[in-house]
Formats: sequence, structure tokens, C-alpha cells
Amino acid sequence: MINKNAPIGVFDSGVGGLTVAREIMRQIPNERIVYFGDTARVPYGSKSKETVTRYARQIVRFLQTQEVKAIVVACNTASAYALDEIEKEADIPMIGVVKPGAKVAAEATSNGKIGVIATEGTINSGIYSSYIKEIKPDVSVIGKACPLFVPLVEEGLLQDPVTDEIAKRYLTELIDIGIDTLILGCTHYPLIRSTVGRIVGEGVTLVNPAYETAKELKELLEAEHMLNEEAAKLGDNKYRFFVSDAAEKFKHFANSIIKYGILSAKTIHIEEY
Ligand code: DGL
Repeated sequence: MINKNAPIGVFDSGVGGLTVAREIMRQIPNERIVYFGDTARVPYGSKSKETVTRYARQIVRFLQTQEVKAIVVACNTASAYALDEIEKEADIPMIGVVKPGAKVAAEATSNGKIGVIATEGTINSGIYSSYIKEIKPDVSVIGKACPLFVPLVEEGLLQDPVTDEIAKRYLTELIDIGIDTLILGCTHYPLIRSTVGRIVGEGVTLVNPAYETAKELKELLEAEHMLNEEAAKLGDNKYRFFVSDAAEKFKHFANSIIKYGILSAKTIHIEEY
């Protein structure tokens, strides 16, 4: 028997998944959330499929101890590498961020040239390209790994000349190819959306999979009759945050992007799960 009032589990390698959590808070405000950021083991983007899958399994086990009713893999790298495996093993619904983002991009392009910026892992998996081509076989999908973006975001350098310079280097190639749509294929990147947008110019539509993921989650909960019917109160443990390291730093960061006043973030030993 599903407990409709149970929280949604959301996880990422660090702070990036907060962009997805924020969107869930906006679109389905009655839902409780348990967020886990793997701050001790970030970044995932340069690690192997095996390692990321092992991490994701441990996080799912931890989230299940919090009795979540569904899980959102708010990390593109974990969605690309581990979602297929972990969703087979779980008895609750699970959604990732890649499919929803691919769908919007396929719909948004007019000239058939879609850029994807993401971690090395997500780009090497080719997952965006395969999903997009399932929907629109004729488009070209050009991937560009941007490994320095995650540490820049984790360090809070959201508006900074260093971030501008790195972004120019990464994005020039995509601009030269003439993309008209760009997927922010890492949940950290919406935090530097204005920098990316300024560099690629107004003619390029930026796709943030977070919005579509929250929408898909809402539709799923509706279809499965799992929407929370009680409006949980803020402060009443509505939103809970866990990390694997540096809880204070995480809390500070989270408070700068989520406007609900995050009172605490708790450190847990994820390797024990
Ligand atoms: N935010 C994550 C993603 O969406 C991963 C960043 C990282 O840990 O490398 O891929």
C-alpha cells in the first residue's frame, strides 16, 4: 500500500540536483522531498559507469530507508549510466532527467542542429543523441563535454570572468556549427544559464531538463494516484537535505538557490548503504 504522504527522493552528485528539486517544489508544492547530494564523491562525470552505478545503488538504498514513494535521479550522469540498472531493482517509480530533456530539445529545434553540453560521462554514453534520434531521426546532435563547469559551480563562481572564459572556449565550437538548440545536460549547468545564454546568443534556445522532469514526475504521480493530498507545512520536515560531506557548505549554497530557508543538511556515511 503506497503512502501518498511519503516524500519524493531526489539525488545528485552534489548541488546540481537542487535545480531539479527547486522545480519540483514549484510545480508540485504539496510534495515532501528528501534530497541527497553526494558531496564527498562529486564529480561523477569523470568516473566509470561501474562506479557511478555503485554510488547510485547506495543512494537508492539510503533513500529507501527514508521511505520515499518515488525517486528522481537528478543527475544526468547517473541517469545515463545507472538508471536502467537501478530502476529494475527498485519497487518504486524512478525517473531520470535525460529523457525529458531530449524530448523538449527534439521539439524545440527548427534547423535540426542540437548541441548538448554535459559531463564526459553523459557525452560518452551518447544517450541524448539516441533518445533525440528516436523522436526525430534526421537531426544532428553535437555533444561537448564541459568538465570544468561542475567545479566552477560547486565553488560558487556563477558570475565570474573565469567562468565566462571557460564557457567561451567550450561553446565556440557549437556556435560555429550553427546549433539553434542547446541542452543544459548536467543539472549543475542551469546555475550558469545566464553566462551560457549570453555566449551562445539569443538565437539559441536553451533547454533545462529540470522543468520537464518535474512535469513528468507530476504526471506520473497523478497517473499512479500517488500525489500527496495533504499540504505539508514548511519547517515541518517538508524538505530534508542529506549529504555525504561538508554539510555547512552545502546548506549555504542551497539557501542561495532555494528560497525556502533550508535549516539543516545532515551528513551521512553513504558507503555504509
Ligand atoms: N550534476 C551532474 C549531472 O547532471 C553531475 C556532475 C558531476 O558530478 O560530474 O551530470
